[in-house]
Amino acid sequence: MKKTIRDYDIKGKRVIIRCDFNVPIENGEIKDLTRIKKSLRTIRYARKNGAKVILLSHMGRVKTDEDKKYTLKCLVDPLSKMLRKKVKFIPLTRGEEVLNAVKQMKDRDVLLIENTRFEDLNGKKESSNDKELGKYWASLGDIFINDAFGTIHRSHASNAGIEKNLPSGIGFLVEKEIKCLDKLNNPKRPYTIVLGGSKISDKIGLVEKLTLKADYILIGGAMAFTFLKAAGFSIGSSLFEKDQLPFCTNLLNKYPDKIILPIDIITAKEIKDNVKTKERFLGEIREDEIGLDIGKKSLEVFKQYIDDSKTIFWNGPMGYFELDTFSNGTREICKMIAESKSYKVIGGGDTARAVNEMGFEKNMDHISTGGGAALTYIEGVSLKALKLIDEK
Ligand code: 3PG
Repeated sequence: MKKTIRDYDIKGKRVIIRCDFNVPIENGEIKDLTRIKKSLRTIRYARKNGAKVILLSHMGRVKTDEDKKYTLKCLVDPLSKMLRKKVKFIPLTRGEEVLNAVKQMKDRDVLLIENTRFEDLNGKKESSNDKELGKYWASLGDIFINDAFGTIHRSHASNAGIEKNLPSGIGFLVEKEIKCLDKLNNPKRPYTIVLGGSKISDKIGLVEKLTLKADYILIGGAMAFTFLKAAGFSIGSSLFEKDQLPFCTNLLNKYPDKIILPIDIITAKEIKDNVKTKERFLGEIREDEIGLDIGKKSLEVFKQYIDDSKTIFWNGPMGYFELDTFSNGTREICKMIAESKSYKVIGGGDTARAVNEMGFEKNMDHISTGGGAALTYIEGVSLKALKLIDEK
């Protein structure tokens, strides 16, 4: 059993809490607060028990200077309001200012430092789990609490790197995630996994292992197009992963009755709201068209599987749901799952956002804050940054 924050005497200690504040942002505005809200219990517990709370988080994938738009500054107001405590923010990931801010902290204070992935601009130090960086961040605290379920499958400096250098435990969010996801290890059947979203290369490799766990895998979203192309259909200018085509062909041959693909697609010539769309059956998509949602017939097919299931895990939107024009597939799937009588688990930031926007969160048994992490866990692979947490 892993240690939790409850296993430490944190009074007067500097407690580093790694959160996943990777919230969706549009035009500088936070579009969904789920991940922030779900982090509050651990932060409140740490404050109530007299700790000095240092918060770390990543946001987005930081590759160029342009990605500095992913500053965590936008979190200060909502966090301060929710905690009823002014959160101090240092727009840096290390240095004199960070050290001074930590030194000046009083018990129950909350300090947020800048996006850990800004260190990726400096030779990918965060994502490659640079030893010195992990050690440096660890030097800011006395105890490390990992409450960032969304990145717990990754070995980064801000989780695994710190865990190697400090006594560690998990927070309430990670504890609950593991408890709820464990139920998927022994599911009532039929067990259906619905997969979509745009992080194709992250997820496509997982599909094979998931076929061993689930009875059916329904595939929509951008990922569907690599499978459809592998199955020999024209996909026009839709997003797909060329390198993965042989892998997908092999899977389709191996599991023809398990992997269920869309049979019609909503296409458009550009990714914009209110553009002219076409409903195309497979084989009808033109070269200059992009597949941006699943169509009505696909929804009818997917509904039969969903209605039949006793356990459902859903990760990833069915189309470009951020734009209304292409959100129908995601909305309908969300409704179908919400109305089903199965044990229902939702995984991932975008999927959680879709569920919340539609007001269905109460209908779901568990909404996981991690997409990739939840998939990795239910696939049966050990979560790298969980493995390193101290045992009780
Ligand atoms: C997520 O959004 O799934 C988590 O925050 C992890 O993000 P990442 O896939 O960029 O590591």
